[in-house]
Amino acid sequence: MINIKRLGHVAITVPNVGETVDFYEQIVGLEVSERDGGAVFLRCNAEHHCLAIYPGEERKLHHLGLEVTDGDALEAARNALAQRGFHPHERAYAEPGHGEALCYLDVDGNRIELYEGMRSLDQPLQPREIRPLRFGHITLQSIELKRAAAFYTDALGFRVSDTAEDAVIWLRCNQDHHGIALLNAGHAKVNHYAYDLADWNDVKRMCDHLWRNDVPIIYGPSRHGPGHNIFIYVPDPAGNVIELTTELDQIWDEERYVPLDWPNEPRTVDVWRGLPAPPNLLAGDGRDFDDWTAGSPIIGAGWHVLQAGDFTALDPAATLTTPTRERPEFKIDIPRFTIAFDNPLDHVKAIVTADRRFATGNGLSVAVDMAVDVHGTEGNPFAADPDDPRLGCAAIALIDDSTGMVINFEISNRRVMALRELFVVTAPGGVGSVLPMADPALTDLEIEPGSWHRYEIRYDPGEDSVLTPGPDRAEWYVDGELVHQIEWVATVDPPAAPVIKPIRFSVNMAIFTLLDDLPDGRGGILPGLDPEYRQTIFGQGVTGRWRNLQVSQAGEQQHLRT
Ligand SMILES: [Fe+2]
Ligand SMILES: [Fe+2]
Repeated sequence: MINIKRLGHVAITVPNVGETVDFYEQIVGLEVSERDGGAVFLRCNAEHHCLAIYPGEERKLHHLGLEVTDGDALEAARNALAQRGFHPHERAYAEPGHGEALCYLDVDGNRIELYEGMRSLDQPLQPREIRPLRFGHITLQSIELKRAAAFYTDALGFRVSDTAEDAVIWLRCNQDHHGIALLNAGHAKVNHYAYDLADWNDVKRMCDHLWRNDVPIIYGPSRHGPGHNIFIYVPDPAGNVIELTTELDQIWDEERYVPLDWPNEPRTVDVWRGLPAPPNLLAGDGRDFDDWTAGSPIIGAGWHVLQAGDFTALDPAATLTTPTRERPEFKIDIPRFTIAFDNPLDHVKAIVTADRRFATGNGLSVAVDMAVDVHGTEGNPFAADPDDPRLGCAAIALIDDSTGMVINFEISNRRVMALRELFVVTAPGGVGSVLPMADPALTDLEIEPGSWHRYEIRYDPGEDSVLTPGPDRAEWYVDGELVHQIEWVATVDPPAAPVIKPIRFSVNMAIFTLLDDLPDGRGGILPGLDPEYRQTIFGQGVTGRWRNLQVSQAGEQQHLRT
């Protein structure tokens, strides 16, 4: 029987070794212990390395280091694997720092390295506020989940800790809940690898450190169900996704532990919020900070069109232009459209949401430039109030992740409506209610059809610290002109607004027409509308350009980046 002692290190191949090494030193907190040829070896404790970075043309796994106890254990492993038909491959790469090693390919072609005796170094590490304790685990996308899992359990002695239907298997070789996790993906690839932090306080310090260095957290902070570890995921400059984690379950009772089969749903891997993992994370792709094909660093890589079940909130006739370095704006072109009886897209033309969460410590400003070409509502067939501001709208919403508070800003063909809402949290209206916390402000700006305007919400958390209750302010602007503002004291105590100071907003933006949400209560099917009726009612061409997410400080706009 093979006894793998632990997952000791991972070795990656990247095309940009220098930049990647800088990232692991300055951001993650590792330290270079040795350079050998073009390869660089980094450590986070006394041991020689927990990460090896090799030069190569493309990003990929170089090898995964599985440590065995000693030379005898290595020899036992060689014999046990040979009995199953696995024989070591030639180890044609330099790797200082540990003793004897044997290389094998797993059933997906990943190179695994069984080794003994990682050397300890005498010289102390440089003092640093935060650094990982050790290498933690790796998650691999596998061609065929059960086949890949069988290799690690049958040939290498791993045990199944948990499963998520036929999508994920978490495997352990020691008391750590998982050292290897396997995803059913139809192809072989590294999804992410993880370094362990000491505790929740270190996660917090790491988050602050990432924020100060403009490194996006692409998923989390939250807690996984399987393993119950707290996690954040960040991209490295080569496009790898790394996880920084703590509080992984320890399984000491091998006799009585019973694996759970978890539902394959967002709440399983994000128990706090149930948010789905971003598509690029699921694909094992991080983000080069300067890769604008995935979105501008300012507006975030993670803008996407909202999907709900089969419904995609984008008019099929619309075209999306994703940001590039040359044109750093997310753009939606929606041509003139005709309202029809059976077309649900006559309601919503586009809703775009952000995967990123934007910290508000220094304030937050979100702007959208938009041309509103909404014809007058006079003579419309629904006898709607021509002054109703919602007939042709665009909206920006800042959604506080922790409390559910929404700062919403809608503009129409003529007017501006700004409001602050609270939902989900306990409020005078009860848990889950939607409760306007301020009266809608209607400002008649006489917006000309076809004209361009810039609409903006600025949120300022006030002068106190981020987590301390104190006065907050939100302002709504059109073309730089203040049209509405509110101030409130964020507190958890009645009778003031029962909200906690928003420290982190997500953002969504929408262009829509509310034809089935008229103030007289008509809805859905548009009663009385002849099914044959087809007429261009709002000959509407709306273009949204999302840009310039800014930090607002002391009344001045400061671009995070140019
Ligand atoms: Fe190695
Ligand atoms: Fe993980």
